[in-house]
Formats: sequence, structure tokens, C-alpha cells
Amino acid sequence: MASLSGKLTIIMEEAFNVLDLPTEKAQVNVSASGQAAEFQCNGAMPCAKFIQKNPREVAQEVIDVLQKISGGEVFEELSIGGPGFINIVLKESFIAQYLKHVGAEEGYGVEPVGKGQTIVLDYGGPNIAKAMHVGHLRSGIIGDTLRRMCLRAGYKTVGDVHMGDWGTPMGMILSELDIMGYEGEITMEMLAEIYPKASAACKADEARMALAREATRKLQEGDERYTSVWRQFIDVSIAGMKENYGSLGVYFDEWKGESHAHPYIEKMVEDIKKHGKAFEDKGAWIIPVAKEGDKKEIPPLILLKSDGAVLYGTTDMATIIDRMICHNPDKIVYIVDQRQHLHFEQVFRAVRITGIVGEDKPELTFAGFGTMNGKDGKPFKTRDGGVMRLDDLISMAKERAYARLDEAELAKDMDNAERDDVANKVAIAALKFADLQNNRISDYVFDIDRMTSFEGKTGPYLLYQAVRIQSLLHRAGVKDQIEFDEYIIDEKTRTLALLLAEYPDHFEGALSNYTPHILCDYVYRLAQEFSSFYGNCHILSEKDEKLKNSYLALCQRTHAQLTEILGLLGIEVPERM
Ligand code: ARG
Repeated sequence: MASLSGKLTIIMEEAFNVLDLPTEKAQVNVSASGQAAEFQCNGAMPCAKFIQKNPREVAQEVIDVLQKISGGEVFEELSIGGPGFINIVLKESFIAQYLKHVGAEEGYGVEPVGKGQTIVLDYGGPNIAKAMHVGHLRSGIIGDTLRRMCLRAGYKTVGDVHMGDWGTPMGMILSELDIMGYEGEITMEMLAEIYPKASAACKADEARMALAREATRKLQEGDERYTSVWRQFIDVSIAGMKENYGSLGVYFDEWKGESHAHPYIEKMVEDIKKHGKAFEDKGAWIIPVAKEGDKKEIPPLILLKSDGAVLYGTTDMATIIDRMICHNPDKIVYIVDQRQHLHFEQVFRAVRITGIVGEDKPELTFAGFGTMNGKDGKPFKTRDGGVMRLDDLISMAKERAYARLDEAELAKDMDNAERDDVANKVAIAALKFADLQNNRISDYVFDIDRMTSFEGKTGPYLLYQAVRIQSLLHRAGVKDQIEFDEYIIDEKTRTLALLLAEYPDHFEGALSNYTPHILCDYVYRLAQEFSSFYGNCHILSEKDEKLKNSYLALCQRTHAQLTEILGLLGIEVPERM
């Protein structure tokens, strides 16, 4: 089932068809707010130009046909605006029927565009042994939302955390343990201490760095002792990551990392060389990826360094081989810091040039995101200038959520367990919505006060509106799905009903460009519109039982749609507040 404008487009196409006008001009859109019509089609003008007729005349012909084919069921009013816009006002019963119809479907009219397709989403990307920081927050939040949206659109989805678990940092730790002569059990705390120490020592001293490189090489060649120590610290790191992402409600289907690409690298490099797609350059091997017509210079991808070491690009190429073998995906999307844009451009070109993937399958997309900044406009840091750990950040948001709940007296009669659960949900809603509502490419300012507020375009505001509907339904004694013949659309409910019917368009807009902020804009408008409907309409004291029932059904529907969208954004609504 399409959106309401989608359905109207189908009817309009039929009319264009009758008149031998090109149907691709029959698109019907929601009119910009403040305009008289609810929907409009601007296709009469280009068509008129083409057949050299007066555009208002063409519009009138279209309107005549529309009246005839719709049998008086759809349009309340069809009129011509300005030079030849076709303005549409719908019949109340048509809106009501549409809403009821679509309400019976699982995704409220969202089309299963991904059915039969597999999509791999690469997000999270934390690095072993290093504490997870806010950069990994953005990737996790956006990626998990996209995964949920893809699932809703019918894709088979594979969310891969793709850890950094294989490069020189591993050798730094292994060689540090050697120097310490440590052979005992390894904990996360130890790693957090050892890694910065080892990394600083390696930076300061070339000989120390050589030890790290040697250890890395041995690990990558399969040295048994190193492999077993490495396995240990991978395990403790993954446990820490699972805890962090788990408390955020960010999920992964696969816990793979760069190391999973390793088994493919040797043969891949060999094949690429054999087919003459890589060239030797001062001892290194490179794949030229520049194309004619490039606006800026795209440097070659370095396949092997002169010392034989593999780089980030090589690993990402081999990871694609792994994904082709394991999933044969139709699409792969990378949700990674915008600053890695060039790297992915090189990788995408290199895998096509080398034939690792076909010309157009899988579709490879880089969905980059901007930086989360502090109020000073610089990348967000703790007060003492360090990187903020993810778990500290969550605790901080939770603390603010507690204070906010108290301020607004929203948790007065809750016991401690419930209060804690609600504070947690408010905190997560605040963090996630503040992140997702920005166009992902933009940087944004992390402002804990603003994002935890119950007013304005925030996660807590949306939770509050959803809970408000719950409590209204509760007071009305509604427990199950309300039975009703038809929504009664009147001047009080019309705007809300039409907005509910727009949902599939916004979902599609958000999914097709991997831009969840479109969904955020929509869900915020929906909550606001509900709020004004609620303010204008005395639902509980309505005397007409049929009308009251329809109002309640609309409330229930709004609640269901709000909850559905918040769910896609990874935000859970508490029972009460
Ligand atoms: N570990 C990387 C980082 O912290 C991100 C990994 C992104 N994914 C990828 N396939 N390269 O920057």
C-alpha cells in the first residue's frame, strides 16, 4: 500500500493515460503548508508545453476525466490554481478509508522495497583495547536505526560491528606484554592501561616500534602463543563492547572485525597482480583508481607497502570478499566518519576495477557522518580534555534524565526500579534523538541540557507525547484494539489524519538516502499535531459516542504510529511517566 499521495498519483496517471499525456508527469504531492489545496499535481504545465496547448485548458481536461473515473468517491474539490496547477481537496470518507486500510498493515503503508534483497550494514567500528568513545556512538546509533529501517522495508539485514582488531595496535599490546613479562589473565582495565602506554612508547622510539611491528607480523602469520593471547584480549574487549552497545540498545548480527579479512588477503593480492590491476611503485604495490572527469584527484589505493605490510584499504577490499562469500549482498552500506570518505571512494573503485565485485552489484554506499562537537565547536571532550568514554556519557545522560523527571514531577509515584527504568529510557531517547535528528553529514553540538529537555524537538518530548496518549486511552478505559466502522474525519481531525497518511513517503525518503533525520522531522511534526488536536478536542467529554469512539481510535492509531517510528529510531516508550 502506498501513501495517500501515492494512491492519488495512481489515479492521476489513469487520467493522464486517458488523455494520452505522459504518465510520468502525473505525480501528486502534498501541497506546501499554507496553501488552499491539500494535494497538487503540477504536470499539466509541462504537458501543455509539449502539445502546445493552454496549460489551464489541459488542467481542466484532466479534472473532467478525474471526476468521471473517480465516480465521486475521492475528490471533494478539484480546481485550477495559477498557470495550471491541479489543486486537490479530498473527501473525508476517502481519507477515512485510506487510514483504516493502511492501519491494518504491519508497517502503516511502508512498501517492502527490500524484499528478496540482502543488505550488509557496516557500523560501530570500535577498536580493540581502546575504550569506546563518542565517535563510535554516532556510528552505532545511525547504523542501528538504518538496520531497523531496512528490516521494516523487508530486506534481509546483516549488521556487522567491524572492529579494528588486527593492525599494529595489536602488536603494540603484545610486545608490551612481552616487555612486562606478563603471562596471566588479561582484563579490560589492564588493556585500557597498557594500550596508551605502549602506543606512546612506540611513537617515541623507533626501536620500540620495530618490536611492535615484529609482534604484529608474527600474529598475522599465525604465531600460536601470540594468537592465544590476542584471542584473550579480543574476548574481553568484545564483552565490554557488547555491554556498552547493549545498554544503548544498539544491536549487531555479526561481531566480525578486520581480522576476518586476513585469510583472503594473500590470494587476493596475488590475483590482482596476476591480472595486471596493480602496479609496483617504489617497492610498494598500488591500484590506480582515478577516473576521467574526477573533480578532484583520487590517489591510488595502496595495496601493499614497500615492507610488505597491508593497509586499511587492502583489509576493506578483502572484507568485501568475505561478505560476498558469506552473504552475497545486494547492497553494502558503510556508516563511518565523514573524514574517511576518500578511503571508501578508493576501496569502492578498486573492488570494481579488480573484479572482486560486478559492475553494479552490490551497490556500495558510503553513509558518512559529521563530528559531535562540544559547545566550543571542537570535537567533544571531557572536562579535562580527554575523550569521553561511552559508558560515562550514558551515565551522564541518565543523571540529567533523573533530574528532569524530578523537575517535571513525572516520577513521583514510582518505585525505585521503575524510576530507574524510565530515567534510562529518557536518557537513551535524549542521546539518540539528538544525534539522529541532524542530517548525518552535519556536525552537531552535544548539549546535554537541551537534549534532555521535555520541551522542543527532543527525544524526551516525544516520549512524553506518546505516554500522554497512553494515559488518555487508559483513562478512557481502552485496553484492546478499538473496534470502529470508520474514522470520522472532521475539521478537528483532518490535519492529523492527513499527516498520519503521509508516513510512507517520509519513510521512503529517509531510507533511500540513508537519512534518518527525515523520519525524525516527521515524528516530531506528528507529535506536535497530536498535541494541538488534543488541545482542541475534548475527547473524554464528547457526548456523541460514535464520534468519541472514532477520536479514541485516532489517538490509538497516532500512538501506534509514533511508537513504530520511535522503535525504528531505537527508542523505547515507557509504560507511564
Ligand atoms: N575502526 C575504524 C575506526 O575507528 C572504523 C571502521 C569502519 N569500517 C570499515 N569497514 N572500515 O575508524
